[in-house]
Amino acid sequence: MLFKPKTCIALYGLALLTAVMSLPAAGRAGSLDEAVQNGKHLFMTSTFGDGGRTCNSCHTGGGTTPGRLPDGTAIPSLSNAATIFPRYNPRRGAVLTLPQQIHSCVMDAIEGTPPAYDSTEMVDLVSYLTSLSQGKPIDMGGKAE
Ligand code: HEC
Repeated sequence: MLFKPKTCIALYGLALLTAVMSLPAAGRAGSLDEAVQNGKHLFMTSTFGDGGRTCNSCHTGGGTTPGRLPDGTAIPSLSNAATIFPRYNPRRGAVLTLPQQIHSCVMDAIEGTPPAYDSTEMVDLVSYLTSLSQGKPIDMGGKAE
């Protein structure tokens, strides 16, 4: 016999591990598609620790259609939001990135606890919003549609 049975099992195990590790990333936990789906779920359902609003309460249609504030005021959709940030915010007197705008909406509009900038939740929300802007021209500082 070339190898002892124990050695055979070890080699088989190693081959199996190598095969699993070399599977393509698509569809596995942590893929971009999954981040977009998780971000959409957060956008539609999370109240970020508060009992009341979700992102979709104001940015209706998952952000794809023009939105509406609780007092009925119309606001633009988020369909090109990812292509117009970073953008100067005159009220703040500062340039805001997209994650900073999300942070501000959770703090001020939802009155919840914003996800940390380096959290999975923030990456998921940014990924979802970026997916809405697919095909839109990059226009930093531009107008919301
Ligand atoms: C109570 C209503 C309300 C809720 C809830 C809300 N927002 Fe906003 N959001 C606004 C308003 C009003 C603006 C525009 C005001 C501004 O520029 O400061 C805005 C602006 C934005 C923008 C920039 C769009 C642009 O082009 O000006 C993004 C991106 C955004 N919100 C994302 C979110 C996300 C993500 C959530 C959920 C975490 C959320 N918002 C929850 C009211 C809300």
